[in-house]
Amino acid sequence: MSTPIFQISDLRKHYGRGQSRFDALKGVSFDIHGGESVAIVGKSGSGKSTLMHLLALLDAPDSGSIALDGVDTATLRGGTLNKTRNKTFGFVFQQFFLTGNDSVLENVILPLKIAGVGRTERKRRGMAALEQLELADKARSKALNLSGGQKQRVVIARALVNNPRILFADEPTGNLDTATGAVVEDILFTLNREHGITLVVVTHDEELAARCDRRIVIRDGLIVDETTKDAA
Ligand SMILES: Nc1ncnc2c1ncn2[C@@H]1O[C@H](COP(=O)(O)OP(=O)(O)O)[C@@H](O)[C@H]1O
Ligand SMILES: [Mg+2]
Repeated sequence: MSTPIFQISDLRKHYGRGQSRFDALKGVSFDIHGGESVAIVGKSGSGKSTLMHLLALLDAPDSGSIALDGVDTATLRGGTLNKTRNKTFGFVFQQFFLTGNDSVLENVILPLKIAGVGRTERKRRGMAALEQLELADKARSKALNLSGGQKQRVVIARALVNNPRILFADEPTGNLDTATGAVVEDILFTLNREHGITLVVVTHDEELAARCDRRIVIRDGLIVDETTKDAA
């Protein structure tokens, strides 16, 4: 089998110190292969978001290692780290993190601005992403004037604008009603199946987890169960 995208070994992470020390991850190991959809499930406070932040290279573990395409990510520094993150990952979080007073297009092209992509190319790629999410007609609207489902689609468009290989979604349907959540889920799985984007979803929604190829359950900072869906 090919080198896994992620090789995660014995990750540990704590917050606070002394009396208020909290061990959020206590030694977590697993691999993720390209094109997989993986659900990380567990109760609130079990360490899911902590794990996702480490995988997304937004935070560093106390110990343990994360290899991305066989490269130990601890060796990545400053500009290289930012570039790798920006080029490889897309983010879809429960809180939309949109700038309400900016237009939908401006929100979507933000990662391209950060990456130093020129204005014309930014607009072209931003509009292409919005078209993919059927939001082209909203490009000039202020983000704050959209519905919850539309906002989450804008977030997905923004996550896709860099053509990421890996999409991280943390409770992507957490703030949406059931019907709208289902639409957003379908978009995520279409991206996974038809575009081969590796999907890592943090959720406490077992139905969403059941749609993924693999389900990893964490409890109190440890993996307590792992199931793989039979190839259909
Ligand atoms: N920045 C932080 N400072 C202190 N404690 C934190 C911080 N982030 C998370 N925690 C604690 O670590 C535990 C795991 O948090 P988190 O990974 O967000 O869990 P989950 O996403 O599964 O709800 C929780 O008990 C939480 O209170
Ligand atoms: Mg969380």
